[in-house]
Amino acid sequence: MPVISSSACAKLILLGEHAVVYGEPALAIPFSGLRVRCVVEPWINGPAGTMHIRARELQLNQPLQALPEDNFLRKAVELVLAELGVFQTPTCKLAIYSDIPISAGLGASAAIAVATMRALSAFLGHPLEKETLNRLAFETEKLMHGNPSGIDNTVIVYEQPILFRKGEPIEFVYPSINLHFLIADSGIKKATAESVAYLAQQRERDPQSVEAAIAEIGKISLLGKKAFEQGDLIALGEAMDADQALLAQLDLSCEALDELIIAARQAGALGAKLTGGGKGGNMLALVTPETQEAVRKALLSAGAVRVYQTDLKEVQDHD
Ligand code: PMV
Repeated sequence: MPVISSSACAKLILLGEHAVVYGEPALAIPFSGLRVRCVVEPWINGPAGTMHIRARELQLNQPLQALPEDNFLRKAVELVLAELGVFQTPTCKLAIYSDIPISAGLGASAAIAVATMRALSAFLGHPLEKETLNRLAFETEKLMHGNPSGIDNTVIVYEQPILFRKGEPIEFVYPSINLHFLIADSGIKKATAESVAYLAQQRERDPQSVEAAIAEIGKISLLGKKAFEQGDLIALGEAMDADQALLAQLDLSCEALDELIIAARQAGALGAKLTGGGKGGNMLALVTPETQEAVRKALLSAGAVRVYQTDLKEVQDHD
């Protein structure tokens, strides 16, 4: 069997995180420059039926069978084997190399699952179709997040901007001008499951105002989608700011994120907001080539641990 290497990208939620868990639309884009790679190779003379897993970022270096049954990586492997009707674990080594920070709102868990499933299915001679991959990756997300919307696995599998709404067909969206973003890490780790559970509690305590905010976020996502397609940077930035105000009202931001967001806006960003689970993790700023350097400096001065950059190219012709 050959050595197989596959990868998956990180993701950014441009608009609509959290509300998407409650059925509202959300806009997500791939972050193709930040990736996870998975390499699967035969384990010559390894114990038959044993897969060795190595993932430095997850502190794993052990046989698959030694992982807890509810471990998402073990689940990813088992789902692929079941889907392909393979009853004996292949004797192989599976290594994961991730540049995506964990618990930081960038979709690391979904990207690790997708890269693993891509590499393993190709190693077994049957690379999974995107639709199947997406369905299986959603199962692993349930283990990680409890109640995921499915947006992370979907945007990562298709690696294209999407408007996502739970239970509805995926809608691909295309920017009509080049878009430039900076992403800044607050350095605070926060598991998405915790912030999702926190909002669920808030909603039980005060259904009326929480549901109103969620519905409002959904409307902003649709306005933002239109701006994204029309290349209206001002309207897109305004949608990001309006979304952030609602996320902050729902207590999903935090001081460190707020400081980064304010610094980005003051330095010329057209819009800035948290991205992903919130209460830590990363923020996202819409910039232009002219403002990019000033915003980057401002983010670093305001305490960003790391600043990334990603661009989306305009798409003129599409189906
Ligand atoms: O924190 P992340 O990267 O896992 O983003 C999750 C997005 C949420 O809307 C908060 C949860 C979900 O499942 O959609």
